[in-house]
Amino acid sequence: MATTTYRESPFLTGHHRPTRMEVDAPDLFIHGELPADLAGVFYRNGAEPLYPPVDEDYHWFDGDGMVYAFFFEDGRVSMRNRWVRTDKLMLEIKAGRRLFGVHGNPLTTDPLALGTRYNTANTNIILHGGKLLALMEGAPPVELDPRTLDTLGEEHYGGVVTTTFSAHPTIDYATGELINIGSIARRKGTAPELRYDIIDFDGRPIKTETIPVPHQSMLHTFFVTENHVVFPVTPLDISITRAAAGGPLVAWDPGRPTKLGVMPRTGTAAQVRWFEAAPRQMMHQANVWEQDGRIIADVAAAEGTSLFPDIDGTRRTHRETRQSLRRWTIDPGAGTDIVREEILNDRDIQFPRPDDRLMTRPSRYAFANSNQRSVDGRVDGMDSVVCVDTRTGAEDSYHFGTGAAAGELIFAPRVGGADELDGYALTLVHRAGAAETELMVFDARNLAGGPLARVVIPFAIPSGFHCNYYAVDNPLYGQAMPGVDQIR
Ligand SMILES: [Fe+2]
Repeated sequence: MATTTYRESPFLTGHHRPTRMEVDAPDLFIHGELPADLAGVFYRNGAEPLYPPVDEDYHWFDGDGMVYAFFFEDGRVSMRNRWVRTDKLMLEIKAGRRLFGVHGNPLTTDPLALGTRYNTANTNIILHGGKLLALMEGAPPVELDPRTLDTLGEEHYGGVVTTTFSAHPTIDYATGELINIGSIARRKGTAPELRYDIIDFDGRPIKTETIPVPHQSMLHTFFVTENHVVFPVTPLDISITRAAAGGPLVAWDPGRPTKLGVMPRTGTAAQVRWFEAAPRQMMHQANVWEQDGRIIADVAAAEGTSLFPDIDGTRRTHRETRQSLRRWTIDPGAGTDIVREEILNDRDIQFPRPDDRLMTRPSRYAFANSNQRSVDGRVDGMDSVVCVDTRTGAEDSYHFGTGAAAGELIFAPRVGGADELDGYALTLVHRAGAAETELMVFDARNLAGGPLARVVIPFAIPSGFHCNYYAVDNPLYGQAMPGVDQIR
């Protein structure tokens, strides 16, 4: 049967409408002045289902990973996008239709797909260990060629990572290490656990530890500092028992606190000390570091979520659960296990990011896409961007016009630059009803002044998830693409 249309879903229409095509664009039009010292690659991952979903309750997180690469070279920008050819997608291509239920739900999955891993590889896209890796939190990374985006297969780190991986591992630029967590599937009658891994600069696993956690929660992110790792267990609870009884598999439990387990980076499960914060939805942090014996975490957090129902089935609105940039302070020497929270900036933000080179070490500025006028920033689009000075709370922001959808805002260091704001900020923007998408290039010190350059992609790229930029002088770029300075 021919594919004709997607079902109605807020995440398959408007800014979210999938392109369903793969493109090579060798030389995109540019309005404005592209800085000469902006040279590198900007990757973005997102969910674009090849086939219409089977289940009625399609979720934004469920589509197939589609990776976009923008190469900034010789004053030009080229673009390429490719689906990540996971085993899941290849099986569905062979069948010519969608086989998996939403989130891989076995109850609605075609028997043809049972035994194949539900790996969409749709959430993040990073360089590490000389490889380009497409990540989702429920499955191992999938390696792609960093230039052609051809899928090379799952990365299992010599058999150490065969089940889950984080969509948000932390790369410590001071050591080159990739620090990772993964949920461990819970067997009946056993306590919930996570796996903690350290992978060295060359992609070799050097530590794995199993950590018991208070309950099975959606572990979308975790924190790493110079000497510690923090496992945040939020009230976003996962329960197969609840699902079997007809309730939601993933649900917000407002009666649970947020628990934060602190462990030395090279420590053991026996050394984990649990701290407690108010019930908070928290999936992304800008940065985390140590200062005067305390752990400082600048996070996007809210009192609940609109992405999943409450345990009683209640649905919350975006407005009720808008995230703001908050600072959590964990003080092991204070004689209390309570985490202090302060709001650094109250804008409705989605994905906060630092200068990646400072991850695990003190940083001052947090970049984010934000929402000023939309009713629901995730469905209707985040219509603006902001850079917050976390020392003063001052902000530098830019609005793209009513109805625009701006993706994650990424700091892009200029070639040769070392300081925190010494460079540019990049984001993909689709304006309401526009036929094209624009990759906006801002001066990182002056978002309010508007983009210095707009790279035009002549079709609407749907809203996606995470982006990363690697300048040509970033060691991760040199390791993955040695000697490459021309597009093939
Ligand atoms: Fe994320």
